Amino acid sequence: MNSIIENKKGILHFDGCNTLELVEKYGTPLYVMSETEIVNRFNQLKECFINKYPNTRVAYASKAFCTLAIYQICKREGMCIDVVSGGELYTAIKAGYPPEKIEFNGNNKLRAEIELAVEYGIGRIIVDGLQELSIIEDVCKEKNKKVKILYRITPGVKSSSHDYIVTGKKDSKFGIPLDEDVIMKHIKDAIDSEWVEFLGFHYHVGSQLFDNESHLKATRIILELIKQVKGKFDYDIKEINLGGGFGVKYTDEVRKPYAYFIEPMMEMINDFYNELGVVPPSVVIEPGRSIVAEAGISLYTIGSIKEIRDVRKYVSVDGGMPDNIRPALYQAEYDGVVANKVDEEKNDKVTICGKCCESGDILITDIKITKTAKAGDIFAIFSTGAYGYSMASTYNGNPIPAVVLVKDGDSELIVKGQSYEDMIGNQLMAKKLI
Ligand SMILES: Cc1ncc(COP(=O)(O)O)c(C=O)c1O
Repeated sequence: MNSIIENKKGILHFDGCNTLELVEKYGTPLYVMSETEIVNRFNQLKECFINKYPNTRVAYASKAFCTLAIYQICKREGMCIDVVSGGELYTAIKAGYPPEKIEFNGNNKLRAEIELAVEYGIGRIIVDGLQELSIIEDVCKEKNKKVKILYRITPGVKSSSHDYIVTGKKDSKFGIPLDEDVIMKHIKDAIDSEWVEFLGFHYHVGSQLFDNESHLKATRIILELIKQVKGKFDYDIKEINLGGGFGVKYTDEVRKPYAYFIEPMMEMINDFYNELGVVPPSVVIEPGRSIVAEAGISLYTIGSIKEIRDVRKYVSVDGGMPDNIRPALYQAEYDGVVANKVDEEKNDKVTICGKCCESGDILITDIKITKTAKAGDIFAIFSTGAYGYSMASTYNGNPIPAVVLVKDGDSELIVKGQSYEDMIGNQLMAKKLI
């Protein structure tokens, strides 16, 4: 357990808050986010990256957890952010986020989204191909504005993670493949364009990684590309973006410190530029999951318990795949505990399931919990801060739960839980059927 998770007299506390009191105040299911842990992760990045190397930035990949309050925290902590849609961009702007510190990723940005980005004057667009470049040029011409761009490349490295979160291999919907004729045409068009300022290259090799090998391979490839661009176009690359992907602890993984990834990449980049006798370009990283995953827990109330003799014991909770789709989507594994019985021996193997009419609505398969768990007890699942709330749906007519931000024993609602009325708020009765 990390230091924000405490057992006080058998009751789970999170960032100083008694989880049972949180449940009493806000109900279940409930997402709880620790501000202390989020800031702690940013501080680690400041220490081993931003403050250690000149001309570096962190852009929080906000798809992992996108709310007004997280953008407020990023702003206060001096971080940049990465958005992947007009909706995330809109949320960030509504939170008062400075547009020039926003970077925009995505393999199929809509023209309307690009228009919004150019209008707001965002810092960078990470361009996925020539088709997108021509839309950007068109929009910029129309608005008489210029934008800074990087190209997302697919370095052709395969990282070891679930197939759905591996993105750097050649067969990927993201990025530009490095076939010489393809990438050089892209680069020439960007350099020649009067509507964009071409800064450099971006890669993201995948997510939930514990081995730095694919990051290092991709960095080597980017540096080789930079050399080719200098040789062919006499053009100096001003920025490289190394993506995110740093793994977190869900069950028994051992999280690697950021420096394990960052140090050898920075060494490689600095050695390369030292040899050329040139100052290195800006270096940006884009972590998402590692900022917020372990900063979040989900709280549920236990309901029906069903024991199928010699087969399995199902313990149902009042949420499930609508508030956490990851186990059903990519067999993600989690750990959890009965929050009001933390001291009790964990001697009963059970499966924690959700309340949806879907056999795949399982949150944790085969976890040991106390034998005395019963309806009305509170079950906490750890490390749900990334891709929990941000992937939530109202499937099966389940309203999206509230999100509470906690810090040193204080709590504040940052997302109201949906009511049934909110849930059907955009629906209309068909007039002809009335
Ligand atoms: C382009 C890009 N950057 C950054 C990230 C963040 O990755 P992670 O959450 O693993 O740090 C992602 C996540 O998929 C991504 O697609």
